[in-house]
Amino acid sequence: GLKIVTIGGGSSYTPELVEGFIKRHSELPVSELWLVDIEDGREKLEIVGNLAKRMVKKAGLDIEIHLTLDRREALKDADFVTTQFRVGLLDARIKDERIPLKHGYMGQETNGAGGLFKGLRTIPIVVGITKDMAELCPDAWLINFTNPAGMVTEALLKYGYTKKVIGLCNVPIGMERMAAEILEMDPSRIRMDFAGLNHMVFGKEIYVDGKPFMKEFIEKYTDANVVTTMKNIKDFKWEPDFIRGIGVIPCPYHRYYFKKREMLESELKAYAENGTRAETVKKLEEELFELYKDETLDIKPPQLQERGGAYYSDAACRLINSIYNDTMDIQPVNTMNRGALADIAYDSAVEVSCIITKNGPVPLSMGHLPTAVRGLVQQIKAFEQTAADAAMTGDYNLALAAMTMNPLVQEDVDAKVLLDEMLEAHKDHLPQF
Ligand code: NAD
Ligand code: G6P
Ligand code: MN
Repeated sequence: GLKIVTIGGGSSYTPELVEGFIKRHSELPVSELWLVDIEDGREKLEIVGNLAKRMVKKAGLDIEIHLTLDRREALKDADFVTTQFRVGLLDARIKDERIPLKHGYMGQETNGAGGLFKGLRTIPIVVGITKDMAELCPDAWLINFTNPAGMVTEALLKYGYTKKVIGLCNVPIGMERMAAEILEMDPSRIRMDFAGLNHMVFGKEIYVDGKPFMKEFIEKYTDANVVTTMKNIKDFKWEPDFIRGIGVIPCPYHRYYFKKREMLESELKAYAENGTRAETVKKLEEELFELYKDETLDIKPPQLQERGGAYYSDAACRLINSIYNDTMDIQPVNTMNRGALADIAYDSAVEVSCIITKNGPVPLSMGHLPTAVRGLVQQIKAFEQTAADAAMTGDYNLALAAMTMNPLVQEDVDAKVLLDEMLEAHKDHLPQF
């Protein structure tokens, strides 16, 4: 059977992952699931691990669940490694969101100054994981959800010790689900072509029963009264003529760029009233762990759907299944461009629809992005690359260049204020600076 290792195993999303493996067990014979965490996550790991054991037992399956704080022990001879950890836990995210807001800039987990700092904390650790993998399980695939997933994939392609890495996000799946809801069709009839970067991806074409349908879809999309965002992003509606103008479907995160003022104002309001998203998530997580502790619970509780990342673990299981079984179906993932997006360098990470084979994802050719949105995508890519270099070198000036180039900052003097304050606030998790 297969050995799966999940780093950040104490995550509240783990029951979704376990459910995904249980559901697919007849085609994807997982025999061991190793949940790895660190001392700070020991209690979470224990609680979620025990729920995982109950879930497997209820399903009557022979999947061994191992809980450990020893990453190297877990990685030995793994077939697939998934990463879903949060350096500094939610307290670090609270700082990423609150410090920029205090200075009048967007504070968000994966965008702007907060996204930069999450990357600076995370990248050296993920690179370290690939170093262990190259030694202990050189043939394994690394499937990373740890945010900022796009920047992390970019860093791994350049600095990673294994090249078998894939970045994953639930945004594209969410967009397909939303399209199905708008069209009132079963999701199996619908497919989108995705092209762009993580949290900066566009639906470039949509197929209904295999027929291109974008023109008609845009009319229904701009007219529909359907939620077109994730649980963590406010559902402000798009200006219909703007969508007609770009001719592609933006992702929920584009609101931070195309509705900058609206998003900032609403976030500042939340910050002043009941706290940022991280603080909401903290409460949600406490509730979830109270549920998980209940020894009669042996399924994934529906309350997990309130998290922005709902369905991402299922996407991971689906991806692992397709690699293992060489199914050659199409899935959107973060991988090396290899010419699929004509506006992005060959060896950069992109989020793109791919054919999933046993040798990994093969990107579908997407050609050019619409001229109107191309520049922003390229700027975010340049930001991600600069940030990844700063994360690996600890170069202060590069970090400031990245911060200043981010479209949600764009002020050199303020960028330095943010950088200095955030370096100080996060210094325990930034040994490279
Ligand atoms: P969380 O705060 O519950 O953290 C998960 C676990 O990681 C914790 O138990 C923590 O102790 C552990 N951890 C921290 N540092 C570690 C390390 N060095 N090694 C091993 N474990 C470590 O986080 P969460 O809400 O479950 O989210 C986990 C990650 O997944 C975050 O980075 C988040 O941004 C990301 N995420 C991604 C997507 C996506 O679309 N790609 C969706 C949702 C969440
Ligand atoms: C999803 C994103 C993730 C993000 C998460 C936040 O929208 O794809 O990358 O981290 O939601 O969810 P949360 O519930 O933690 O705010
Ligand atoms: Mn995501």
